[in-house]
Amino acid sequence: MPEKPIIRLIDVEKVYRTEDEVILIFNGLSLDIYPNDFLVITGSTGSGKTTLMNIIAGLDRPSSGMVLVNGVDITKLSEDKLSRLRAKLMGISLQSQSLLPNLTVYENVELPLIARGVPPRKRAEMVEQVLDVIGLLGKGYRRIERLSFGERQCVSIARALVTDPPILVLDEPTQHLDPMTTEFIISLLRGLHMRKGKTLIVTTRTRKLADVATKVLQLRKRSFRYPASEDRAASPRLSE
Ligand SMILES: Nc1ncnc2c1ncn2[C@@H]1O[C@H](COP(=O)(O)OP(=O)(O)O)[C@@H](O)[C@H]1O
Ligand SMILES: [Mg+2]
Repeated sequence: MPEKPIIRLIDVEKVYRTEDEVILIFNGLSLDIYPNDFLVITGSTGSGKTTLMNIIAGLDRPSSGMVLVNGVDITKLSEDKLSRLRAKLMGISLQSQSLLPNLTVYENVELPLIARGVPPRKRAEMVEQVLDVIGLLGKGYRRIERLSFGERQCVSIARALVTDPPILVLDEPTQHLDPMTTEFIISLLRGLHMRKGKTLIVTTRTRKLADVATKVLQLRKRSFRYPASEDRAASPRLSE
């Protein structure tokens, strides 16, 4: 039997409205993501990658359209149900979702486990394991504000991985990394996909990650602005 999509976007549109203008980021966007997908979303700065990741993770709602996660339309869920669903299924590392600068690496990575009610001893085991995998074991005691951007990025990835979720949503995870660390993270993500069967949804502006993807979605910068006073029906419909 063919597998069912784990995430479906159906005719998704996102517009930002300010007092005097409406900015259309994308519309007519439909996408099926299957459990064995390693989906890479590329596109230049401003093409809507972060916006799309926020919508997929249910941290932002589309202006119209449906986002089904495991068959549930998350655009209609209460914040409460949404955060429970997210905690169960997704590990998220987003550009906008920053680490807590005053806490240590260890404490930041531990947060999703506390939120899930994992007991302290088990938490310690899980945090240490993920820090080891990502090469940060010796830096657990360091405060985030004392780390480089690259190190912070690795902590953010570790925080996404620590709960061992089936879906990973990573927004430009190699943005601040040097070439060697980038290679390391790419092979780590590949391993998570191939050996652990994770669904990966990753944005990037570099080819390297797109080369290992099973699917690539290219977003084009096409944000279209029009005065807020103008009739929406008169605006052209953009499509891929
Ligand atoms: N809250 C907002 N209000 C208005 N415009 C926004 C808002 N957030 C993002 N945008 C615009 O949406 C476009 C896409 O942004 P983003 O999703 O961050 O792109 P990317 O991650 O590909 O660089 C940009 O032109 C950005 O300025
Ligand atoms: Mg972005």
